[in-house]
Amino acid sequence: MEQVIDIKIVIAGKGHAVHAQAIVDLIEESARVRGTGIAKRDPNYIKKKLETGHSVVALHGERLIGFCYVETYSHQRYVSNSGLIVDPDYRHHGLAKKIKRAAFDLARDLYPEARVFGITTSLPVMKINTELGYVPVTFSELTQDEEFWRGCSSCPNYEILQSKNRKMCLCTGMLAPSKVEEEAMKYDLTHQIVTAGGGSGFGRAPKHIKFRY
Ligand SMILES: CC(C)(COP(=O)(O)OP(=O)(O)OC[C@H]1O[C@@H](n2cnc3c(N)ncnc32)[C@H](O)[C@@H]1OP(=O)(O)O)[C@@H](O)C(=O)NCCC(=O)NCCS
Repeated sequence: MEQVIDIKIVIAGKGHAVHAQAIVDLIEESARVRGTGIAKRDPNYIKKKLETGHSVVALHGERLIGFCYVETYSHQRYVSNSGLIVDPDYRHHGLAKKIKRAAFDLARDLYPEARVFGITTSLPVMKINTELGYVPVTFSELTQDEEFWRGCSSCPNYEILQSKNRKMCLCTGMLAPSKVEEEAMKYDLTHQIVTAGGGSGFGRAPKHIKFRY
């Protein structure tokens, strides 16, 4: 018979600070198992994220089973959802998707003008981000804030990042519009479409050139 378990996904508050160490342990253990880079987290830093309403937790009863936090860079022009983690016992049930959705909404509610970005080597994260509206971009489109890139220094691939002058690495950069940008995109702009034959012809290929696809 199918077993149903109740899971709560909430914006964390002061009462969740007790889970800081468990979160750090989960992140570190998962990084070790994957053998790939992940920025190390300080329990005090995670505690602050929990206490200040800058993170999302998933709970099964009292057990912490998932987490993700919000961080800003470049004077709040960029915001990221970092530290996404799901307890191995609870994976492959769509939990990361739900946590990330909540963290994404939280980031955009807290910082409506900031573009949301991330870097990742994780296929599940790429899938989730794509569903949320992120697109892959080169690192030049991401925050250039030193604070963010310093986070990569505990990654085993850091030398690669440095040798490429921070232009590329093994991670894929992903970017989503800010809440304000997304709202603006919802407006109907069809009256602004320039029809063929009108205007200056700017950007049109000469007639004798044909494109074949
Ligand atoms: C990555 C992680 C958060 C995914 O958690 P999860 O709850 O199992 O993910 P979900 O069930 O929500 O799956 C989301 C999508 O990824 C896919 N997916 C999940 N795990 C996968 C895996 N190991 N390989 C390939 N695809 C995977 C799912 O099929 C789903 O795709 P779909 O929408 O096409 O069905 C979890 O494996 C984890 O904590 N890993 C260690 C930490 C980590 O890698 N964090 C990301 C750092 S950038």
